[in-house]
Amino acid sequence: MRILGIESSCDDTSVALLDCSEQGCFVLSEITASQIEIHKKYGGVVPEIAGRMHAEKIVPLVEEILNNQDKPDAIAVTTGPGLITGLIVGAEATRTLSYAWDVPVVAVNHLEGHIHSVEIKNQKSKIKNDESLHDNNKIQYPAMALIASGGHTSLIYIEQQGKYKIIGKTVDDAAGECFDKVAKLLDLPYPGGPQISQLALTGNTKAIHFPRPMLKDDNYNFSFSGLKTSALYWLKDNTLAAEKTLPYELPTGIYGQVPNPPTINDFCASFEQAIADVLIGKTIKAVKEYNPKTVILAGGVSANKKLRETLKQHLTDNFSDIKFLYPDLKYCMDNASMIAVAGYYQAQKNHYTDWKEIKVDPNWELI
Ligand code: KG4
Ligand code: ZN
Repeated sequence: MRILGIESSCDDTSVALLDCSEQGCFVLSEITASQIEIHKKYGGVVPEIAGRMHAEKIVPLVEEILNNQDKPDAIAVTTGPGLITGLIVGAEATRTLSYAWDVPVVAVNHLEGHIHSVEIKNQKSKIKNDESLHDNNKIQYPAMALIASGGHTSLIYIEQQGKYKIIGKTVDDAAGECFDKVAKLLDLPYPGGPQISQLALTGNTKAIHFPRPMLKDDNYNFSFSGLKTSALYWLKDNTLAAEKTLPYELPTGIYGQVPNPPTINDFCASFEQAIADVLIGKTIKAVKEYNPKTVILAGGVSANKKLRETLKQHLTDNFSDIKFLYPDLKYCMDNASMIAVAGYYQAQKNHYTDWKEIKVDPNWELI
C-alpha cells in the first residue's frame, strides 16, 4: 500500500510517499522544508511564524512528491503532540486531500512516528532484495524506547506494536531543549545540539563537573533545567580559555603552574557527557527491569554520536541478545517518512479517521 505521510508539528514541513508491505516500508520520495534559517534569528521556534511557513510550503510539497502519479492508498498525518499552529496546517491539508481523493486518513502521534523512524527503508535495500535485510531494522517486541528531542524526553515501554506505557519523562526541559538553551549561553546558533556535539568532539569530558540530575532517583523521570542553570552559573563564575594552549593537561598547582582553564570544547564535552550519562543511566535501568527484546533510541538528540555510541557499547557489552535500533541520521529529525511508517501499522488495524473527524491535540499523550 502507498502511504502519503505529512508532518508539520514543529519547524519542519515534511511530505513523503512510502510503499509499505509485509516486507517493510520503503521510501519512494520525500521532501522536508526546514525553517531553521528563519527561526535561528529568534534563537528558537516562533509558533506563529512556523504556522505561516507550513501553510506556504505544504501544497507545493505534496504536488512535488506525487508528481502526477496516482493518488496514495492512505494519508498519515501528525495530529499531536506539537505546536498547534503547525498541526492545524497538516490536518487541514489532509482533510482537503482526503475529501478530494476519497482516500482514508490515519491520525498519527508524533512520538509513535519517532519510534518507527528506525524501521524506514530506502530503495537501495529493496533493490538488493536480500531477505535478511528486511528484518534487520524491524522492531521486536517488547521494546524499550528512549525518545529525546527538542520537545520530548521519554522512556516508553512498548509491549507490542501500538501498546505504549510511558514509564518516565522529563519533569521540566527536554534534553534537546537543554542543548539548545546552553548553546545560546555560549552564543552558538540554534539548534544548539549539533553545535555542542561538534565542539565536544575535541574536548575533555572531565574538565568541568556538571550534575547528573535525578540519575540516582528511584524512578525513570528526567530533569534538565538544573543542568542548564549550573551551566549558566559556571559561565558567570569562570572564563573559558580562547583555545587550548597545551596538547596535554597540566596537573593542578604543581610547581606553581596555573592550570589551563577549560576551553569551549571542554565545556561542551563535559556538558554533553552529563546529558549522555543521565539518558543512558536511566535507559539501562529500565532495560534491567523490563527485559525488552529491542532498545530504540530516536528523536533529534539521537543524532548525538556520543549518546548513540556509548549506549550501543553498553548494550553490546552487557545485553548482547538485545537488538539496538536507531534511525539513519536524516531520520533523527522530524520527517514525514516516520509518520507514514507509523500510519501503516494503524492502517493495517483499520484505525482510520474520517476527514470530518480529524482533530489536532498539541498535548496528545501516547498510551
Ligand atoms: O526531533 P526533532 O527534530 O524536533 C522535535 O521534535 O523537537 O529534534 C530537534 C532537537 C533540537 O533540540 C536539537 O538541538 C537536537 O534535536 N539535536 C541534537 C543533535 N542534533 C539535533 N542534540 C544533541 N546532539 C546532536 N547531534
Ligand atoms: Zn520530533
